[in-house]
Amino acid sequence: MAATSVVVLDRGNNTTCTINLHGATVVSWRVNNQEQLFVSKQAVFDGKKAIRGGIPFVFPQFGPWTFGPQHGFARIVRWNLEKAPERLASGDVEAIFSIMDNDFTRSMWNFSFRLTYRLILREKELHFNIAVYNPSKDLTFSFNMLLHTYFKVPDVRRCQITGLHGCTFIDKTRENTCYQEGRDVVTIGEWTDRIYQNTPQEHIITNVVSGRKMRIQKYNFPDTVIWNPWVDRAKGMTDFGDDEYPNMVCVEAGHVSSPVILLPGTAFEASQILQVM
Ligand code: BG6
Repeated sequence: MAATSVVVLDRGNNTTCTINLHGATVVSWRVNNQEQLFVSKQAVFDGKKAIRGGIPFVFPQFGPWTFGPQHGFARIVRWNLEKAPERLASGDVEAIFSIMDNDFTRSMWNFSFRLTYRLILREKELHFNIAVYNPSKDLTFSFNMLLHTYFKVPDVRRCQITGLHGCTFIDKTRENTCYQEGRDVVTIGEWTDRIYQNTPQEHIITNVVSGRKMRIQKYNFPDTVIWNPWVDRAKGMTDFGDDEYPNMVCVEAGHVSSPVILLPGTAFEASQILQVM
C-alpha cells in the first residue's frame, strides 16, 4: 500500500476539496465549511470497491459491462498525482491526476490510453477538466465517460432540477423506455434512474445544503443522468444506509448514450463547473 491516499486542495476560508487517489474520487468539497457532496456513512474505503458517494469517475463504460465491472475501471484503480496542489496567481488551487493503461486495464480493455483529470478549486466553484488521449498509431477506441456526482441535500423531495424540459430520456426504471420530459423542473419522489439526452450546458438544482442553489455547467458532456435509489433499492445496497436516500441526488454529466469515438493520435476533452449560488 502506498502511503498517501488522499490529496487536499485548500483555498483558505474553510474551502477545501479532498480527492481519494482510489478512483480519483472527489470525497469532499467544502465551501466555507459547508460540505456540498454526499458520501454514505456505509461507504467502503478498502482500495477495491468504488466509493459510495462524492464524485466517482466513470470510464470507459457506463452501466453493466461484459468485460469488467459496472461503470468501468477508472473508479476502482489508483490514480497518479500528476501535479500536487498548487496555488495559482488568482488564489485558486489546482491539482492534476492521471491514469494510463496497464496490465489490469488491458485485461478488460486492450487499448493504450492516457487520461488526465485537472481540478481547480475556486471560492465557490469546483472546475473539472478532463482529457483522454489515444496514443496509438492505428487503433481507434470508443468509450463512455461520466462524473457520477452525489450532491448532498437536506431533502431530495424539495429539490428541483432545471434544464431538462423537452429532452428525451431513457427510463431505466421502466425497462429503458424512452420518453420526453414535459416538466419545466424535475422533482424526485420515487426510485429515479434516467439518462436525459442532448441536455443543455447548464442545470440548476434548488434546495441543496443551506437552502442554496447549485449550478452545473458542462462542456462536451451531452447527457445528464439523474439517479436516486429510493427506499427499497437503498436497502439492497450494502454500502448505502437504508435511511440516507433523502439526503442525496445524483446529477451526472456524461457522454453515455452514445460512445466517444477516439481516432489514433487524437484527444477528447470535456469539462464541468460546479458553483454554489
Ligand atoms: C447510476 C446508474 O448512474 O449509477 C444506475 O444510472 C446505478 O443504474 C447507479 O444503479 C449506481 O451504480 P453503482 O454501480 O455505483 O451501484
